[in-house]
Amino acid sequence: MAPAPPSQKEDEEDLAAFELPFFQRLVVQLWAMVLGLITRLTDAVLLVGRPALVRPYVGLWLSERLRSPYRARRSFEVVLALRATGQRMRELIYGETPLMSALWVFRRAGVGPGSRVVDLGAGRGRVLLAARWLGAEARGVELLAEHVTRMAHWLAPAGITLVQGDAAQAELSDATHVFTNWLALTPETKARLVARLRTCAPGTRVLTVLHPIEAEDFVRLSSHRVLFTWGLERVWIHEYRP
Ligand SMILES: C[S@@+](CC[C@H](N)C(=O)[O-])C[C@H]1O[C@@H](n2cnc3c(N)ncnc32)[C@H](O)[C@@H]1O
Repeated sequence: MAPAPPSQKEDEEDLAAFELPFFQRLVVQLWAMVLGLITRLTDAVLLVGRPALVRPYVGLWLSERLRSPYRARRSFEVVLALRATGQRMRELIYGETPLMSALWVFRRAGVGPGSRVVDLGAGRGRVLLAARWLGAEARGVELLAEHVTRMAHWLAPAGITLVQGDAAQAELSDATHVFTNWLALTPETKARLVARLRTCAPGTRVLTVLHPIEAEDFVRLSSHRVLFTWGLERVWIHEYRP
């Protein structure tokens, strides 16, 4: 029997666990502003080398100014999406991978022209810009329709596909590289993703943020500490060897 979906009270309790006292919140907000400035600047410098990606990036930035993706909203649509996958509200806590960090780990994982990169839990598609920067095909699957409807039309002209769906149902058979920023996911959701990752072709490289895959058929090749919108975090590169 499927577990009962979390109630509004449980979701509110989950989110309340992330509430901070005033001064701590101030420090965190200042830190986020500094990181935001650094990562926007480095993103901008990188984009000089790829003018075709400037327009989608401006779209990302504009859309963030109009409506912050970092604020969790428990709308009817969000509740339906969570019920469909059996997930909790706290799994939607948002953060992004700056271009410089994504480029660094993608290079280490061997992404280049001819690669097909899939981002599971793609958010607004920032990581996919890095895949295109390296000449790879880029596709993202994101649970929240709001991220997709706001961003897909900005990304499409740069050859990036962002679709709404459950990452644990994503088509992965043609992927050469799969990225997942899964640090907020519960062990149950991670297990569903790992089961899906087993539909990849042998040799596929899988990159995960913070937690490596704990399974023998995903061999760890290397790990790298890089900057995210909330601070430094480790990215693990694995190869699928069934
Ligand atoms: C931490 S954000 C990462 C965004 C992007 N990959 C990046 O690194 O810049 C994780 C995203 O995963 C999405 N997500 C959570 N569960 C999902 C699921 N089952 N299927 C697809 N996306 C999911 C969340 O809505 C959120 O946008």
